Amino acid sequence: MAQPDTILIIGGRLEALQKAKELGLRVVFLQHKERLLPGQADTADVLLLVDYLDWEVTRPIVRAAHEAYGFTAVMTLVEQATELAGRINDMLGLGGTSFEVARRFHDKLRMREWLHHTGFESVGCAEVTSAQDVRDFAERHGFPVVVKPLDGTASRGVAVIHSPADVEESWAEVTGLRGRADLPMATFYPVDRFIAEEYIDGVEYSAESFSFDGHHVVVSLTGKFHDGCVEMGHALPAILPEDVETAAVAHVVGFLTAMGLTDGVGHTEIKLSSKGPRIIEGHDRVAGDRLLDLVAVTHGFDMERYASGWPMRVLPALADRPEPVLGSVTKWVNGSPGTVVAVEGVDELRAEPGVFAVDVHVSPGDVIEPMADNFGRHVQVLVTADTTAAAIERIDSLMDRVRIVTRPAVG
Ligand SMILES: Nc1ncnc2c1ncn2[C@@H]1O[C@H](COP(=O)(O)OP(=O)(O)OP(=O)(O)O)[C@@H](O)[C@H]1O
Ligand SMILES: [Mg+2]
Repeated sequence: MAQPDTILIIGGRLEALQKAKELGLRVVFLQHKERLLPGQADTADVLLLVDYLDWEVTRPIVRAAHEAYGFTAVMTLVEQATELAGRINDMLGLGGTSFEVARRFHDKLRMREWLHHTGFESVGCAEVTSAQDVRDFAERHGFPVVVKPLDGTASRGVAVIHSPADVEESWAEVTGLRGRADLPMATFYPVDRFIAEEYIDGVEYSAESFSFDGHHVVVSLTGKFHDGCVEMGHALPAILPEDVETAAVAHVVGFLTAMGLTDGVGHTEIKLSSKGPRIIEGHDRVAGDRLLDLVAVTHGFDMERYASGWPMRVLPALADRPEPVLGSVTKWVNGSPGTVVAVEGVDELRAEPGVFAVDVHVSPGDVIEPMADNFGRHVQVLVTADTTAAAIERIDSLMDRVRIVTRPAVG
């Protein structure tokens, strides 16, 4: 017998489980053994430790868990499990996002083809299997060309190629990532196939959304700080003229509708280009970099709580976009290449007014290499203030308080 109060959560952080428990739900937690975090086993009512990347193994276990515990919805906030959640929804007829829709978000070529096919927007995109393919693509679409993994994350293997002379070297560099089992999260995001895309100019934003039965609420538009293709920070709500914001929100809502998402979280990256708003990529998962925490404090809307509460219908739908009550920003401090000797100033910075959190991702003894992707960032500082502009001003005055002391590698 199905019990109405049981949810299956796949992967993610401890807070997702805690929030589901606070809503009074029974939590069956499906996790991969490489990702089990402290506190998760205690918080979940049931823990299934499974290689969930293997559907043949996961399918019978989920079936048995469904029979045993009778969960009525599946929820995941991590990209590596969105297609799995879709398979489970399809297999058990739970409603929720299907495998087909989840795959459309995850596979960047499929997304581009789908958006073209639906008439929503057309951005040149093709699979490339050689440097010659990239040159041929550039013949058709012009430079710059973006080459990136078909289903990558964390900006790993993303290259912007500006001229024919750069193709060979860039291609060798990005394809050199194939088979690199030593990279962080390599189990979940192996680099394999590549696409080439037309370069979209303009300033980039992301939209953090939640969809209720096909009604898409863009909770926050978020501004970005970049170093090359790597995101070095975010600020929200984005500082935009009202008409530009309205156009960006409308584009995101159109995108989510075209993609066929009806319920749950969305994270859509867009550029306001010289040709109008264009999608960079979209996801049926939350943004990284703790943006969901910043959305919760700036807009008073907790996407993580809703991710369990909405499919179980223990929280009501939002009718309108929530008004921001604060501004917030996050930026990363990176150490110079070498061996980390110390990370200084963290506790003092945490005690400063307005500092929401300081998360340290390096320890003494770690070797810092030149940054290649999101995993090559070191200390994340999160700040809130009355407005976004005030938060940016505040964080900029604080960033030099953290010092990552490194000793150059002896060559
Ligand atoms: N077609 C494009 N035109 C211009 N810039 C692009 C394009 N595709 C990607 N980029 C830039 O590269 C960044 C990373 O690309 P993308 O978001 O597709 O990769 P990702 O690995 O999923 O990154 P992340 O997980 O950090 O969002 C984008 O945020 C954007 O700044
Ligand atoms: Mg991205």
